Amino acid sequence: MIVTTKALFELAYGKYAIGAYNINNLEQTMGLFQGCIDSKAPFIIQISKGARSYTHKKMLESIIKTAEEVFPDAIFAVHLDHGDEATAIECINSGFYSSVMIDASHETFDKNIEITKKISDMAHAKGLAVEAELGMLGGVEEHVSVAESAAKLTDPEQAKEFISRSKCDALACAIGTSHGAFKFSGSQGLRFDVLTEIQKRVPGFPLVMHGSSSVPADEVERINKAGGKINGAKGVDDNQFKKAATLGVTKINIDTDGRLVWTRVHREYFRDKPEKFDLRDPGKVFMAEYAKFIASKNVKLGSAGTLDEIRAKLKK
Ligand code: G3H
Ligand code: 13P
Ligand code: ZN
Repeated sequence: MIVTTKALFELAYGKYAIGAYNINNLEQTMGLFQGCIDSKAPFIIQISKGARSYTHKKMLESIIKTAEEVFPDAIFAVHLDHGDEATAIECINSGFYSSVMIDASHETFDKNIEITKKISDMAHAKGLAVEAELGMLGGVEEHVSVAESAAKLTDPEQAKEFISRSKCDALACAIGTSHGAFKFSGSQGLRFDVLTEIQKRVPGFPLVMHGSSSVPADEVERINKAGGKINGAKGVDDNQFKKAATLGVTKINIDTDGRLVWTRVHREYFRDKPEKFDLRDPGKVFMAEYAKFIASKNVKLGSAGTLDEIRAKLKK
C-alpha cells in the first residue's frame, strides 16, 4: 500500500525513524520489499534524478507497482530524492509519487524559500508532501557537489523561519553528516546539540537526516580483500539513530550502504567462482543479502515490528 510520508511521520514522530532507501533497479527493489516485510517495517522508497535516468524513468515506476502486488502487506511511500525544480514539478504531475524533495539548499536563504514555497503550493494542491533542505551537507549529490569546507550546518533560528515561510512538510537538516562513503574525517560526529536546538524551535515538525549510511568497517574490509580500493571510508554510528528519532528525526536516508552490499557480493562472487558468468547467480545472492541488510537497519531505526500497528492506525 502506497501512503504519504506525512501519514508515516505522524505515527513515527518522536518514537522511531522511517528508513528511506534509494533504489535503482529490480534487485534492490526486491531486497528492499523483502527486508521490510521480514522486519515488519514501513519504509520510504527514494528515487534520485540519477536513478530516474539510469534506464527509462517509467521503468522504476513499473517495478515498484509490481512489487506492491507481489508484497501486498508492504506499507511505503514513494519519494523523489534531491529534486531540482523541473524534476519536482514533473514528479508532482506524474501521479505516482507520494512526496517530493526540493533541494534548493545551494541557493540563498530567500531564494531557497521562494523555490520551496512554489513547489509546496503545487504539491499540496495534488495531495503530495514536500521535503526541503536548509544548510549544506558535505559530499556529492547528483546536481551539486559540496566541498567539506563549504558544508554548512543548519541554523536553528533560520529553520523555524524557513518552515513557516516555505510551507514545507519536512526539513532535511545539515547536522554533520555527508553523502557517500567518506564521512567524518577526524573527530567529527553527529551534532545532537544543533538537532536539539532545531527541535526546540519546531517541536513536532518532522526532520530528515541525509547522509546516514554507516559504511560498516567489515563490509569495506571484505570489498578491499576482494580487490576493491575503498580506503578511509567511514560512516554514521547507527546506534545513534534512535536518539536522533527522539529529537524529531523521522526520516533517515540510506543509499551508500546498499551500494557497498552490492559491491561486496559481486566482488566476492566472481573472485570465488571465476568460472561463472550468469548474472542471476550473484543477483540472487545480492537480493538475499540486501534484504538482510534492510531488516537489520530497520531494527536500528526502531521501525522494525511496527507494521501491524501502522496498518491498524491508517485504517481508522
Ligand atoms: O544523496 C544522493 C543519493 O545517494 C542518490 O545518489 O544521485 O547518485 O543516485 P545518486
Ligand atoms: P548516504 O550516502 O549516506 O547513503 O546518504 C544517502 C542520502 O542522503 C540520499 O538522499
Ligand atoms: Zn541526500
